Amino acid sequence: GNVSSVKRQLAQLFELSLRATVPDEPDIVPLVDSCNEKSGVKHGDYQCNNAMVLWAKIKGKKTEFRGPPAVGQAIMKNIPPSEMIESCSVAGPGFVNVVLSKNWIAQSLLRMLIDGIDTWAPQLPVKRAVVDFSSPNIAKEMHVGHLRSTIIGDTLARMLEFSRVEVLRRNHVGDWGTQFGMLIEFLFEKFPNPEEVNEAAIGDLQAFYKASKLRFDSDTEFKQKAQQAVVRLQGGETRYREAWTKICEISRAEFHRVYERLGVQLEEKGESFYNPYIPWVLEELNNKGLIEESEGARVIFVDGVKIPLIVVKSDGGYNYASTDLAALWYRLNEEKAEWIIYLTDVGQQQHFDMVFKAAKRAGWLPVDDSLYPKATHVGFGLVLGEDGKRFRTRSTEVVRLIDLLDEAKTRSEAAIRERETARNWPEEEVKKTSEAVGYGAVKYADLKNNRSSNYTFNFDQMLSDKGNTAVYLLYAHARICSIIRKSGKDIEELKKNGKIVLDHEGERALGLHLVQFSEVVEQACTNLLPSTLCEYLYNLSDIFTSKFYSNCQVIGSPEETSRLLLCEATAVVMRKCFYLLGVEPVYKI
Ligand code: ARG
Repeated sequence: GNVSSVKRQLAQLFELSLRATVPDEPDIVPLVDSCNEKSGVKHGDYQCNNAMVLWAKIKGKKTEFRGPPAVGQAIMKNIPPSEMIESCSVAGPGFVNVVLSKNWIAQSLLRMLIDGIDTWAPQLPVKRAVVDFSSPNIAKEMHVGHLRSTIIGDTLARMLEFSRVEVLRRNHVGDWGTQFGMLIEFLFEKFPNPEEVNEAAIGDLQAFYKASKLRFDSDTEFKQKAQQAVVRLQGGETRYREAWTKICEISRAEFHRVYERLGVQLEEKGESFYNPYIPWVLEELNNKGLIEESEGARVIFVDGVKIPLIVVKSDGGYNYASTDLAALWYRLNEEKAEWIIYLTDVGQQQHFDMVFKAAKRAGWLPVDDSLYPKATHVGFGLVLGEDGKRFRTRSTEVVRLIDLLDEAKTRSEAAIRERETARNWPEEEVKKTSEAVGYGAVKYADLKNNRSSNYTFNFDQMLSDKGNTAVYLLYAHARICSIIRKSGKDIEELKKNGKIVLDHEGERALGLHLVQFSEVVEQACTNLLPSTLCEYLYNLSDIFTSKFYSNCQVIGSPEETSRLLLCEATAVVMRKCFYLLGVEPVYKI
């Protein structure tokens, strides 16, 4: 069975206490938080912050209390007896501080080791979610922005899946639109014989796109043909349909190579999928009186935005927005998703803002954002080169993702071959480790930043074994594994017969951080911020080394069994973090 997070368990205790303290106020929600060392002296591990707010609520009424500290005292007194709690105190204007029992922490850790870390899965208020991520465009470049979307989206999906949410991982590929007329017409020109069309012949689809665009812009006759081609494609003419399919297939093969390297699962439901739904979704919006005429186009006006959302262009064609409205409708009504999450760069914020507002006007989504179903746009910043400008390489305008991943792997392989310890590794091991470290470094460098800021892509930095990098963390994990190996003890045996004791300050600090894993993942899911998890992981590794390992001898000490179990718990939690971040763990260095 699932174990609630420490925070949730304490909140339950405080809920009971609040009921007893103010029986006339049954709706008070307990406000429990872990104590933050940075904010000064720590009076406990957790605190309940209800007293002040509660005082403000009851002071006008007949009450026995005189001020928030007295309310705090009463809340403390009314906490039901619990083996979780070692001691409590009231500080300042009524904060109730809780010191957790170290025995309880130790037992929670041992339970987790026996029952598995999945029993620490957070509880979220949704059962099914759509994560719309990666979503490159056919024949256009799959650029570093799409890499960010892929990496961040995959992590969010993994965290939600761990929290027992059914996630529909959607690749909203740009596979529809006017560019196809031009591409198809160009294809017919270059390959009169359709048999000859394949990836090898076309080579670089981006170059193909550029060449056809050049032709489109310079030749009016071609332009007209291309425009007719769009109509013929949308009308379903076989020859056009087949050419479109071919172009999509070639693009898809390239996308897949990236996903395979990154270990990312996605289900493609491209823009074309929603095309048949557009007419009657717009019909519904029209019946609700949302659609207006503006300069020949059909548009929806929404609150707080001056320009309208165009849903039918003046030439009668549909666009990105009409597709997104149809997709949102489909996800809510056909797929019954309660939370729909979109990952793109912040540049598309206004687009999604308008689509969601239109959906609220239509009554598809509740106006109150704290209610479900809910749609959320997760925007992220640009990837910058070291010159502070948009990331590009010298030779080509855009960075090919495959080349980038190749380089990360090559560099990490070179670093591994230089390590004394890796001298006699089998070739297979070197390859595997350099992939894990190289791709892990690229992912982690992205995820550790607050996603809304721009970040500078720097191979030397991300592949450094010092500081907050994947390399440092993977090696920290490998070192813990080697402590366990060196002990020669069978961990399964220790789990069955051993005990965890947290008498040393360093052991307790590590144990406390470990049992907070669940609530950190919950917070990362709620705020859709993978950086929260990275921070937790980095702190874990730091606490392990600086507080625990440098003060507490493991092998050969009287506490060896307990400390080996603590090492194992740390390694298990680290591996789960790696898994959620899409990073492959390393066991040897
Ligand atoms: N294809 C778009 C782009 O490359 C991203 C699509 C995001 N998803 C969506 N439902 N609009 O910018």
